[in-house]
Amino acid sequence: MKVDGQHYRTIWLAEDGWRVVIIDQTKLPHSFGTVVLESEVQVAHAIASMQVRGAPLIGATGAFGLALALRADPSDAALAGAYERLLATRPTAVNLRWALNDVRARVAVLKPGERTAAAYRRAAEICDDDVAVCRAIGEHGLAVFHRIWERKGRPERLNVLTHCNAGWLATVDWGTALAPIYMAHDGGLPVHVWVDETRPRNQGASITAFELGRHGVAHTVIADNVGGHLMQHGLVDLVIVGTDRTTASGDVCNKIGTYLKALAAHDNGVPFYVALPHTTIDWTLADGIGTIEIERRDPREVSHITGRTADGRIETVAILPEGSPAANWAFDVTPARYVTGLITERGICPASRDGLAGLYPDAPLLR
Ligand code: MRU
Repeated sequence: MKVDGQHYRTIWLAEDGWRVVIIDQTKLPHSFGTVVLESEVQVAHAIASMQVRGAPLIGATGAFGLALALRADPSDAALAGAYERLLATRPTAVNLRWALNDVRARVAVLKPGERTAAAYRRAAEICDDDVAVCRAIGEHGLAVFHRIWERKGRPERLNVLTHCNAGWLATVDWGTALAPIYMAHDGGLPVHVWVDETRPRNQGASITAFELGRHGVAHTVIADNVGGHLMQHGLVDLVIVGTDRTTASGDVCNKIGTYLKALAAHDNGVPFYVALPHTTIDWTLADGIGTIEIERRDPREVSHITGRTADGRIETVAILPEGSPAANWAFDVTPARYVTGLITERGICPASRDGLAGLYPDAPLLR
């Protein structure tokens, strides 16, 4: 996507062909800058500190992390150690495990001297595939948007609610949930997006709003608890979100608060769609509740808030009374029964085992 007239992906190789460049998302929306990663340790830090975030981008970055690790030491022991350390950076998004497994399986069978180049090659392919997959998700999602717009009698604006950030900054390009929004906007559909702020890290307010604003998409940032009220008043035509891990039976793990939006959508008859690439499906799990590790992050993300002062300084301030404890669950699980449909690169299916099996007959589904 473009920022200030220049086309960006979220991750790429520096001109030297080996260092990895990312956009530092912890600085958004106040500044748009890049960071150069030279080692697996720096990659692990970038993922854990959320300089990069979003399930597909975490996977792509992890793949480059293995390549950097192998460049430093291509031995079996180094590969095993880097795999474990990178995997431990963030536990919920399954794309990380998928990408690390994929790269490791391809390089482990090679001689140590051949591993680094193969890992770089595969990491680059993972990035290219992600772009193509997200574009396809966008096209399938766009058809859903058109259907809903027609069914509603072609309203002056199609109100879409989204939670967290599942845009181009969460993937390599395009995004998942935001891909159809970009395509709708580009194609002239009058789309307007309600952007949940997404406490505690405010990915909606800081990243989704940044993306949509730079692309010229009409949007309004709302506090996290507003969505239900808007739905009761007919102001939401559909909800679309991304996911960090979707089980083989269609349970959707996504940013904390997604479940409550799904409940409100269900109660109000608002379609609730989830956009995802195949790399986000965890074929090893059926039931998502109690089986997926839900990341617990630093309570300071709840007790403090960061913003820009009137004179341009970035400041972090406490918002709790001294002594009040805080807790920070980063994700929740929306049961499949609340999901209207899964929008994948292969098309749209019901959020169910049969639905996913229909689109992915080649997948190792649970028996
Ligand atoms: O904690 P984050 O910012 O990595 O969480 C991101 C989300 O929850 C996204 O909705 C999800 O990764 C899908 S991104 C295409």
